[in-house]
Amino acid sequence: MMVGGRHYRTIWLSDDGRSVEIIDQTRLPHAFEIVRLGSVEDAADAIRRMLVRGAPLIGAAAAYGLALGLNADPSDAGLDRGQAQLLATRPTAVNLAWALDRVAREIRPLPESSRADAAYLAAARIADEDVASCRAIGAHGATLIASAHDAHGRPVNILTHCNAGWLATVDWGTALSPVYTAHDSGVPVHVWVDETRPRNQGASLTAWELLQHGVPHTIIADNVGGHLMQHGMVDLCIVGSDRTTAAGDVCNKIGTYLKALAAHDNGVPFYAALPSSTIDWALEDGVRGIPIEQRDGREVSEISGLGADGTMATVRLTPAGSAVANYAFDVTPARLVTGIVTERGIARASRAGLAKLFPG
Ligand code: MRU
Repeated sequence: MMVGGRHYRTIWLSDDGRSVEIIDQTRLPHAFEIVRLGSVEDAADAIRRMLVRGAPLIGAAAAYGLALGLNADPSDAGLDRGQAQLLATRPTAVNLAWALDRVAREIRPLPESSRADAAYLAAARIADEDVASCRAIGAHGATLIASAHDAHGRPVNILTHCNAGWLATVDWGTALSPVYTAHDSGVPVHVWVDETRPRNQGASLTAWELLQHGVPHTIIADNVGGHLMQHGMVDLCIVGSDRTTAAGDVCNKIGTYLKALAAHDNGVPFYAALPSSTIDWALEDGVRGIPIEQRDGREVSEISGLGADGTMATVRLTPAGSAVANYAFDVTPARLVTGIVTERGIARASRAGLAKLFPG
């Protein structure tokens, strides 16, 4: 992704070859700041506080976090401690556990003297593979957008929820990768961006990304999508996923399920775009089996933004005595999902559909 004429990934190794740099997503869209992570504690804190977020990116960040931990303590105890610390940061996106398992499995048989170097290489491979997968998702998903354009000849209206773009991955994004690919190839697109309360990843991150890339878009309040669909103003929905079951149930940012219901009621195709690292092959029933993160209620009761004086301010929205609940994700059952766009192509949202693309 280009920012101010320079290409960035969302995570990279510093020039010292040991620390890791990230873009602080809690500061966007008002400031573009790079933060250096020097320890496993720094990495865990960045994931928990959502300086980095989005399923594929927290997988890559956890892998680099494990490397940072092994750099300080390459013993078995150090490996176990780092893995547990990182795993405890966020429960829903399966990419986190997937990346940690993959690095730990590769590193454990090695002598302590070579573990840190090998872990940095393994983390870099995970990051590179994510870029390749997301790019391929873009190519497959763009065919859906091009077909919609061929069918009616006007700009294709796509609705997306949360941020499943470049910032949620290492580069390109999942749901937004097809949008960038279609836009770059000359297919006219317009994106309806759900604001995505309570943390507003749509209004702050997706809108910022689309603006950087020059993609026409409009930010809408979370409850608007159904109305737009009733009036033929959405051609297709594309969202990302934090965990998709082997049967095609899609867990994504809270509110995704309601968009899928509205899409189903209005005959609007509803796609989830995700790399295979987001598929939890051990789970069938997403509603019963996927752990849903509950976050600090202040994300609901308060809101932060740029004040008229140009400084960041946080204000309370709710009465001081009211209880708040903050469920961060929900599950859209496979029956409401038109298809799953992966790095290997577009699958039906079913065990058979996914197994056809990912046999074994
Ligand atoms: O809580 P977040 O911001 O980490 O949630 C992110 C999402 O829900 C994304 O849609 C999902 O991770 C897919 S990202 C490519």
